[in-house]
Amino acid sequence: MSSYFENQPTPSEIKERMKGYSSWLEINLDNIGNNLRDLQRHTDTTIMAVVKNNAYGHGLVPVTVYLESQGVEWCMVAKLYEALKLREAGLNLNILSMDVLFTPEQYLSVVEKKITQTIYTREDADKLQEAAEKAGKHAKVFIKVDTGLNRVGVRHSDAVSFIEYVHKLSMVDVEGIFSTFQQNPEMDKEMLDKLLTVDAGLKKKGINIPIRSMASTDATFHNPDGWLELVRPGMSLYGVYPEKKDLSAPVDLLQALSLKARIEYVKTVERGEGVTYWGKFVAPKRMRIGTIHAGFYDGVPREMANKGRILVNGVYKSSLGSVSLNHYLVDLDGVDAEKGTVVELIGETGENTLSKTAEIAGWMTYSLLNHLHANTPRVYYRGGEPVALLDPAH
Ligand SMILES: Cc1ncc(COP(=O)(O)O)c(C=O)c1O
Repeated sequence: MSSYFENQPTPSEIKERMKGYSSWLEINLDNIGNNLRDLQRHTDTTIMAVVKNNAYGHGLVPVTVYLESQGVEWCMVAKLYEALKLREAGLNLNILSMDVLFTPEQYLSVVEKKITQTIYTREDADKLQEAAEKAGKHAKVFIKVDTGLNRVGVRHSDAVSFIEYVHKLSMVDVEGIFSTFQQNPEMDKEMLDKLLTVDAGLKKKGINIPIRSMASTDATFHNPDGWLELVRPGMSLYGVYPEKKDLSAPVDLLQALSLKARIEYVKTVERGEGVTYWGKFVAPKRMRIGTIHAGFYDGVPREMANKGRILVNGVYKSSLGSVSLNHYLVDLDGVDAEKGTVVELIGETGENTLSKTAEIAGWMTYSLLNHLHANTPRVYYRGGEPVALLDPAH
């Protein structure tokens, strides 16, 4: 178990540092824990936590350390550097990397660091065997089977002979086979059948693969047949229902992330004055306006121009004008605010959740999370207290 949380500043030190932040993200780890337990209860299947893309913006290391402390035994990353970062942080859980490898050093490092590598070609299998021989350690792999997404993977019709080939390699251990659904119910049924046919073909040859996996959030919600030995939730783990139809899923998820910022400057503009680039907003009357030190650098979509919902002292106010790289303006009519006032740009609940913000912007929730800047400080909470900090200045 990593000592990550023990080596963090104290809650009062974190609160002190936060006083100087102009924009930051707050991550409620208890909510991620709630979602994990709810997904476990719902599927009664092993969970592979998808922590790729900086844990969907939530911060790779603290989130994965927390998940491991909650009993998660598997996680998935998209990039080899993410897997290496987790090992550097002292994490021992199983890591499935879906990255592609190009250099001999990369093959060697996945073996050395006990990272489970996604493969689907003989070339990759042979290179891993070579690296494993060199390192004197077995390589671990999941084989990606293409059941109809036509993105990557060994074609389902070629999968049995390919997996048989890998299975025979003395230093490469096949831990699992997996595939990704199209998320189209008719097609998904066929895709599952194809993976099960591959598995049956392998069993006939006496090859038993311990783990079969197909489900990401969509199938975790709606397709119990697709759960198999391991489900791979990403969005749902972070408490986001990717689409409106998902709200009917029998789980009770809690969004874990909020984006906060401070007002930098309060001013009054006169009726008829243009505000922000291109005069994107024209004041219909004399108005008090607050300029917030946050913008599309942090991940606020530019499509929120004049449409954002910003919580100021308990009241949702509209954003005004265009979203700049580092500035975002809010109507302060009827609310108290001054330099330093904390406002909420994305909230766990209310009018500015991730889903509602994405809907206003015309973005997917996935895009919204993946545009949160890695340098925006992140503060992690448990039991209402800040317990960890990711701060580029330290
Ligand atoms: C292979 C794979 N499995 C699982 C997931 C998780 O998807 P979701 O966030 O929809 O749960 C992803 C994310 O794109 C993925 O690429």
